[in-house]
Amino acid sequence: MLRLAVLVSGGGTNLQAIMDAIDNGAITNAEIDVVISNNKNAFALERAAKHGIEAKAISPKDFETRDAFNEALYEELVSRKIDLIVLAGCLVVIPEKIINAFENRIINIHPSLIPSFCGTGYYGLKVHEKALERGVKVSGATVHFVDAGTDTGPIIDQKAVYIEEDDTPEVLQKRIMEQAEWVIMPKAIDDIANGRITVVDGKVVKK
Ligand code: GRF
Repeated sequence: MLRLAVLVSGGGTNLQAIMDAIDNGAITNAEIDVVISNNKNAFALERAAKHGIEAKAISPKDFETRDAFNEALYEELVSRKIDLIVLAGCLVVIPEKIINAFENRIINIHPSLIPSFCGTGYYGLKVHEKALERGVKVSGATVHFVDAGTDTGPIIDQKAVYIEEDDTPEVLQKRIMEQAEWVIMPKAIDDIANGRITVVDGKVVKK
């Protein structure tokens, strides 16, 4: 059984999709050990608690230094013997110590087709604003392993979503969540939990 830690910062709709997929059998061989938020008020924490899953806030604001926060997060993940860290709308920059300790064991969902509209500064609605500004006809979502860069790790899966004429960033964000994020994120977790994914020379290979 793969032990997951889901790291969140906001609404937690991706967390919800993961919990639902575990409940309905779309994800097998995985359980959520803990949900951790840097933001005490994140609705994602309520979703987890409502589901009977341990939900914790670990906020940089509660530590004197960033290093102390990083260390606390690291200790939490290591002491729980977490197998896979799932970044589901997590706005915290994951410290190098965690990235090194969990090589190819951290995944993230990004709301565009990487390498478009990604990297530093591309988060939340900004991603969709930029896509609409550029006038692309197709966007989507990407689930990828996390390495030391921003949105640079090996790509696990992507799903395209068409842009429609009157799209606003909000409307596009919602469509990408519904059609892409909530589909490919649970699927990636199921593939990892069932040993269908390996990383060879920095690229994801499906068995
Ligand atoms: C999603 O758009 C995800 O792609 C991005 O942050 C958002 C999180 O939404 N990384 P939610 O908290 O899962 O509802």
